[in-house]
Amino acid sequence: MNLSFDNRTVLVTGAASGIGRAIALAAGRSGARLIVGDVAAAGLAETVSLLEGNGAAVISAICDVSKQTELDVLFAKGAAMFGHPDIVYANAGILGSPVDVWDCAEADFARVIDVNLMGAFRTFKAALPGMVNRGSGVIVATASVAGLIGAPGLAAYVASKHAVIGLVKSTALNVADKGIRVNALCPGMVDTAMLDALAAGQPGLREALMVMNPMKRLATPDDIANAAIWLASDQSSFVTGHCLAVDGGFIAQ
Ligand SMILES: NC(=O)c1ccc[n+]([C@@H]2O[C@H](COP(=O)([O-])OP(=O)(O)OC[C@H]3O[C@@H](n4cnc5c(N)ncnc54)[C@H](O)[C@@H]3O)[C@@H](O)[C@H]2O)c1
Repeated sequence: MNLSFDNRTVLVTGAASGIGRAIALAAGRSGARLIVGDVAAAGLAETVSLLEGNGAAVISAICDVSKQTELDVLFAKGAAMFGHPDIVYANAGILGSPVDVWDCAEADFARVIDVNLMGAFRTFKAALPGMVNRGSGVIVATASVAGLIGAPGLAAYVASKHAVIGLVKSTALNVADKGIRVNALCPGMVDTAMLDALAAGQPGLREALMVMNPMKRLATPDDIANAAIWLASDQSSFVTGHCLAVDGGFIAQ
């Protein structure tokens, strides 16, 4: 199977840690040039250093996906060096604080929607005109199994990820005859800072999540990155508008 990204430019949002960093590193190992953005400066610098250590060409910029202008700058900075990206991973996301729906402050709910849903929408807006002009491109949005099923205490997150899947399906149909594919990646529980933050307030949660999974473990960021690479590669050339669960069988139960 040929998963080469040689001569491809790949852009990743939320690339400073976890799944985004793993996707960027996997894309770099596959031969891509990288454009990486995040709000977390130290983590982003570490990702850049890891990429360069592996011999990848990389451009980075601090980029908050809740600001269209910062996304536009990231795309423009990357395009000036490498050309408009061939592959875009709309990956940045936040969990929000676990809380009963009726106790969730409107501003907290809106913030999760603004980063997870609107952030993906803004990333699509920055990515698509150049892809439509060129007649090719691939977008992969990191949704979640929380985009497919509910989770108590996480209504804003679940709502945002369900909406990301709606955005992906509609956009995929919009551009299916323009040489552009758009898909959603739906990770299960992944061992990243996001899960650490959730588990910090709930002793025993990490172990409970492992027991609940058919494979009796959490995903590693690399488990997700491997699927993300396939989903953007030529090997998935007839896959669009799809939600790919990478969850150890969690939602098959
Ligand atoms: N960890 C899991 O169990 C899990 C499961 C399913 C889906 N996801 C999704 O995977 C994606 C990556 O999460 P992760 O698990 O790697 O967590 P993470 O916290 O390690 O990484 C998230 C990254 O997004 C960045 N970020 C946050 N807000 C941002 C903003 N406004 N603009 C730009 N960057 C921002 C963070 O700084 C961080 O580097 C998210 O969309 C998340 O919802 C995670």
